[in-house]
Amino acid sequence: MPSDESATTSVPNAAKTPTDTATGTTDTTVPRRSGGAGPHRPLAVVTGASRGLGRALASGLAAAGWDLVLDARHGEDLLAAADDLAPAATVTIRVGDVTDADHRADLAAAVADLGPVDLLVNNASALGPSPLPRLADLDPDQFAAVLATNTVAPIALFQALLPHLSPTATILNISSDAAIGAWEGWGGYGASKAALDHASAVLAVEHPDLTIHAVDPGDLRTDMHQAAFPGEDIGDRPEPATVVPHLLALVAADLPSGRHRARDVDPATGVVREDAA
Ligand SMILES: NC(=O)c1ccc[n+]([C@@H]2O[C@H](COP(=O)([O-])OP(=O)(O)OC[C@H]3O[C@@H](n4cnc5c(N)ncnc54)[C@H](OP(=O)(O)O)[C@@H]3O)[C@@H](O)[C@H]2O)c1
Repeated sequence: MPSDESATTSVPNAAKTPTDTATGTTDTTVPRRSGGAGPHRPLAVVTGASRGLGRALASGLAAAGWDLVLDARHGEDLLAAADDLAPAATVTIRVGDVTDADHRADLAAAVADLGPVDLLVNNASALGPSPLPRLADLDPDQFAAVLATNTVAPIALFQALLPHLSPTATILNISSDAAIGAWEGWGGYGASKAALDHASAVLAVEHPDLTIHAVDPGDLRTDMHQAAFPGEDIGDRPEPATVVPHLLALVAADLPSGRHRARDVDPATGVVREDAA
């Protein structure tokens, strides 16, 4: 990925109008500033980029020379993340919920102005109720909400951005080991990720020129992980930044579409470990 161009980001006061509610859809833009953002910088859309893995991956992409379009529901957190990235990249942010069709249309409008999208990372996700209930106790409406965020929204965002994807774009649909393992309490979330895995595989067949990966990042020390293990010390889980080199290598590698565990991807070569599941 290009890394020899330095681009900066300005955050005009007039643009600082984020909403800070779980349902807010106000758009906030951190526009390009002159002085470095050339036309050939690759463009990535990363959902759920205000904290956790999304924020760490956005940071890694920025350092590798990518321009970014980021979203999350809470504007203040997203703006803080964009400010942190500002020295390394030009960042456009849109505040909203990936389950909201209007918000997805806003993301599409943003990328229409910026040029083709080289990478879409469907990272935003919902765990569901915490503590994790057995399926017998999972409220159907809450189950439907998890499916809406984790399965339907990534495909719907792909649909919205398809006219704006570069012909050889990469899609990373962030999955989980819960898509494969059968563990008590993980049925709702796990089913949503298993469905995302399958949808990713079908998309790959339907769009052979694109590279479409479902990727399990492994356990990470994040708010979502803490919600999955309420009251437990998760200090032994790796920080999200530790998996970013593996994800960047996956994006850079010329691999066929597939499902991967991120840590099976060699960060130096992009080669997937031969004994990988
Ligand atoms: N952490 C782990 O151990 C682990 C393991 C396997 C897989 N994963 C997967 O890794 C990805 C990142 O997880 P994480 O642990 O980093 O989660 P996290 O710490 O909870 O962060 C989630 C991010 O997504 C945003 N978000 C959540 N719902 C959204 C929505 N409906 N629309 C837009 N943005 C939304 C959040 O901001 P707002 O709240 O402001 O919207 C936040 O920026 C997820 O796909 C998750 O399933 C995580």
